Amino acid sequence: MNFKRPRGTADILPEDQPYWGHVYDVASKVANQFGYHRIDTPTFEDTNLFERGVGNETDIVQKEMYSFEDHGGDLITLRPEGTASVCRAYIENGLHNLPQPVRMYYAAAMFRYERPQAGRVRQFHQFGVEAIGDASPEVDAEIIELGWKYIADLGIKNVTLRINSLGDAEGRADYINELEKYFLSVADQLPKVDRDRLTRAPLRVLDSKAKETQALANAAPKSIDFITGEAKEHWEALLALLDNLEEVYPDFSYKVDHRLVRGLDYYNRTVFEFEPSDVSGSQGTLIAGGRYDPLMGILGGQETPAIGFAGGLERLILELKKLELPVPSSKGPEVVVVTLGGAGSAGAALASGLRAASVSTVLAPKRSMKAQMRFANQQNASNVVILGDREVENGIASVKSLGEGGGQAEVSLDAASIAAHVLASGNQ
Ligand code: HAM
Repeated sequence: MNFKRPRGTADILPEDQPYWGHVYDVASKVANQFGYHRIDTPTFEDTNLFERGVGNETDIVQKEMYSFEDHGGDLITLRPEGTASVCRAYIENGLHNLPQPVRMYYAAAMFRYERPQAGRVRQFHQFGVEAIGDASPEVDAEIIELGWKYIADLGIKNVTLRINSLGDAEGRADYINELEKYFLSVADQLPKVDRDRLTRAPLRVLDSKAKETQALANAAPKSIDFITGEAKEHWEALLALLDNLEEVYPDFSYKVDHRLVRGLDYYNRTVFEFEPSDVSGSQGTLIAGGRYDPLMGILGGQETPAIGFAGGLERLILELKKLELPVPSSKGPEVVVVTLGGAGSAGAALASGLRAASVSTVLAPKRSMKAQMRFANQQNASNVVILGDREVENGIASVKSLGEGGGQAEVSLDAASIAAHVLASGNQ
């Protein structure tokens, strides 16, 4: 037997858990600061939800979904992202009846069949937020501020925020026409992948990875020059709100990037991405999102404006490691019980008694005294309780503090007394 985990997946071992605990903790703290409430949706959904929601022409739907027919003949997909699911839940559970906007967040595994590399895996985890039911630019600014605060509270500095407006569907047709005209006029200088893209998804030519295309894309028509009416007012109001944020957060800044388009079809108006300024050894975008006013209608619900983002937790953790940022270490047990001679069963009974009294307790494996003490130190325990035949006979245990200052005491061998001692010494 020689099983390996599937390509592009990871085992998150106990030693790595402090990083995961930290990115989850900070996520829920920041979400709560902004009044967002947790939502959990199923890991798999009707395939149609993503085909319609994310868009049939996107890379995600075309080549990255884990889809299968279940035993009942239903077409099922492991979710490649969270937004379509949250919108489905909003419609299905009648959340439009709540005060709007409904502010929700999630932290969950997503699945995309991509070519694995650092920061790009097939099962990955996102922290996402969605504010549904409010079209005002204040909510766009709030979502961007939340993303910024999350990164800042993790201690990550030097990120670049790029933003753009894709305008509304009506104005976009004119823009895409102009864009196509422009790229067709230079088509002989485009690599084949981008010539193909030009016919399928002209906007995506703007964020091509090919150097020669990037130079041409810099000179391409800009979507913000084509937005009109309410979309233009919205954009200008948002920029003013972001200027205010620069005053509140000294490190906050943003760049308008007309080449920023997104790989999912549901966006309109505001789109944005946070990226490390120093991309060497990094994996690109940490957090990405935007406004998706058309999505509810596409999914068969009432037209409802909405905006959100999702951040990749694997990428944020890689960034924490690259910058050598500290994360809270996992706490060791309050007590390790060390037993010698025939005291094994008395030790096991004491460990149970301590746990029943809510003192976290681990029984050391039966080895030499020295090996058991080493075990207690490795576990990062606060105290050891040492039990040998003599202690059991006399009904007295030796309790040693491993914390600063050390100290050893003889305590009556019963769980209540030892629990009280450990609590009173403050070394738990
Ligand atoms: P997305 O740009 O597809 O947007 O993904 C958001 C983030 O998830 C990326 O910036 C990246 O950090 C992380 N990510 C994506 N794919 C992978 C992967 N294969 N491996 C590791 N990390 C990955 C969305 O998913 C939208 N639902 C975001 C959104 C929410 N828009 C509005 N609301």
